Amino acid sequence: MAANRLLQHYVDNARRLPWRAMPGETPAEPYRVWLSEVMLQQTTVAAVSPRFERFLRRWPTVDALAAARDEDVLSEWAGLGYYARARNLIACAREVAARGAFPTTENELRKLPGIGAYTAAAIAAIAFGRRALVMDTNVERVVSRLNGIEIPVAESRVRLRELLDGMTPAEHAGDFAQAMMDLGSTICRPRAPLCGGCPLSSDCVACASGEPERYPAPKRKALRPVRYGVARWIERNGCIWLVRRPAKGILGGMAALPGPEWTDEPESHPQVVGHVTHVFTHFRLELDVVAAAKPSGEGWWQSLDTLADAGLPTLYRRAAEAVLLPRRALAA
Ligand code: ADE
Repeated sequence: MAANRLLQHYVDNARRLPWRAMPGETPAEPYRVWLSEVMLQQTTVAAVSPRFERFLRRWPTVDALAAARDEDVLSEWAGLGYYARARNLIACAREVAARGAFPTTENELRKLPGIGAYTAAAIAAIAFGRRALVMDTNVERVVSRLNGIEIPVAESRVRLRELLDGMTPAEHAGDFAQAMMDLGSTICRPRAPLCGGCPLSSDCVACASGEPERYPAPKRKALRPVRYGVARWIERNGCIWLVRRPAKGILGGMAALPGPEWTDEPESHPQVVGHVTHVFTHFRLELDVVAAAKPSGEGWWQSLDTLADAGLPTLYRRAAEAVLLPRRALAA
């Protein structure tokens, strides 16, 4: 079974880390596990290791930390960043000291300041040997690759948890959690994973694909919202009817083809003679150019021969090209 192979690989290869009990040893104290997991949020193992040891020398127990002065803890934290973590750390230490010990279940751990789903699961598994789903970004990548989940992890978290649940053994919860983390950071790396040394490669869809790096896909860029517009193409005697846009708002005061305000819903139109997709900073515009017979409101006739001098912004210059270029191609 995959979990057994991973655990054996961990027994043979576990990294020695200051907060870690090696496989077969008594689990690390919850204070050490908690402190290391908080420090490791957004900070690398290499940066955390010396700081963890120094912190522990200064405050060897949760009671000692609970009795510390806030400013001493904050200055000891200097350089680790994300100082809200340090403030939560003090609050959490005081709560734990007041209740006498760390709670031992994920649910109870979750209620402490600064302890979220990941940290609660990690402490429950690593310090108390409870089966828990310990899913950090490394583990998300490992599970995505094993199962060939290509979509970005932000869109597959529920599925990834189910899959992790399916492979998490009942025993050796702490070793399994840390084995998955180690695998993610040393072998199943984001770039250039070392599949040749991976105990799970024979079960891994991404490895079998020959392009493991493709899994999971990077986070999608936020999609620009789409707006829809209509521009009227009113042509007479070699001229088209142009208007000036209202002074306020997008393209304010610019020359333009006439048309109603842009909307959030697409509509279909008869007599579409051209189309442009135009990307603005905050949205994408899909603009249909439709033939119309008569002008209305204020505007002017602009000769097609001098259209380049009309001061049209790119959107409308492209809209005019969408109509005129096919015509010129036909004439050529
Ligand atoms: N990253 C976060 N927690 C870790 C742990 N317990 N072991 C290795 N890497 C980690």
